Amino acid sequence: MTTPLSDLETQLATLKQDAQDAIAIIPTLDQLEQLRIQYLGKKGSLSQVLGAMGKLDASERPRIGALANEVKELIQADLEQKRSALQAAQIEAQLASEAIDVTMPGVYRPLGHTHPLTSTSERMTDIFVGLGYTVATGPEMETDYYNFEALNFLPDHPARDMQDTLYLPDGNLLRTHTSSVQIRYMETNDPPIRIVVPGRCYRRDTVDATHSAVFHQLEILAVDEGLTFTDLRGTLKIFLEAMFGDIAIRFRPSFFPFTEPSAEVDVQWRGRWLEVMGCGMVDPNVLKAVGYDPEIYTGFAAGLGIERIAMVLHQMDDIRRLYTSDLRFLRQF
Ligand code: DAH
Repeated sequence: MTTPLSDLETQLATLKQDAQDAIAIIPTLDQLEQLRIQYLGKKGSLSQVLGAMGKLDASERPRIGALANEVKELIQADLEQKRSALQAAQIEAQLASEAIDVTMPGVYRPLGHTHPLTSTSERMTDIFVGLGYTVATGPEMETDYYNFEALNFLPDHPARDMQDTLYLPDGNLLRTHTSSVQIRYMETNDPPIRIVVPGRCYRRDTVDATHSAVFHQLEILAVDEGLTFTDLRGTLKIFLEAMFGDIAIRFRPSFFPFTEPSAEVDVQWRGRWLEVMGCGMVDPNVLKAVGYDPEIYTGFAAGLGIERIAMVLHQMDDIRRLYTSDLRFLRQF
């Protein structure tokens, strides 16, 4: 006949079974820790059972005590085992979520390229840099002085008209040409100088196939002792041949306030003469305006429309295509 289990023995057996069942199905490490506190913590279930041991008969205590220890160790062992299992599962899950599938197709990122206006400007600039010219720039917002007055424009010159120039409310203006940089550069540098100035310009033009209110010019300026028109002509011939190959060029007399004598240059392109730039010998008044002695120094200058050159080079029919950012058009270059 078996001895009936004491009350405490039953409680310990139940506690052990409950704990083991709970541990078996616990899904997270946090909840596992809660279970440990619930069963083995200072105020946990096991402590409560042991608290009742004081009421036991002294002869019973060692047996129940040993049993309680055994239960505690069993639960601890289960907790430990479960902790390792959950930790391993957590690492597994992390590895799985961070795995990279190297066989997946990549993301296609189309590669852009330089805008035809930029590449034309860079190509033109590079030719002059190759001839020893330094790149210079200036502000797009200008004063009347740099854009007109110092360049020998008379006060009533038609270019100053509201119809041609975009004036700002404060009386300044958006530069109508890159020639303003001639003055700014000469004011702060002594001769000899050779500069090439690519830049954006503005005019109050009606927009059509060959005119835009915003356009780009490339200016060159050389000042030294003994420079002549022959130097100008030779320089421009080298430039045009580098740009267009072996082509016929011609100089036509013209007028600009800041050059004397002045000329316009045409190139023969696909059977007709095409004007590509204005040029001339720097007017002595311009040299005087920046404090250069025109008895010692002479200079030459030229200004080219970059759009015009790009249109010739790439056989474009409409200047507006250069500004509309239509990728179907731009991808051709
Ligand atoms: N600034 C002139 C224009 O916008 C172009 C030009 C002509 C520039 C003759 C020059 C020059 O430097 O010498 O039409």
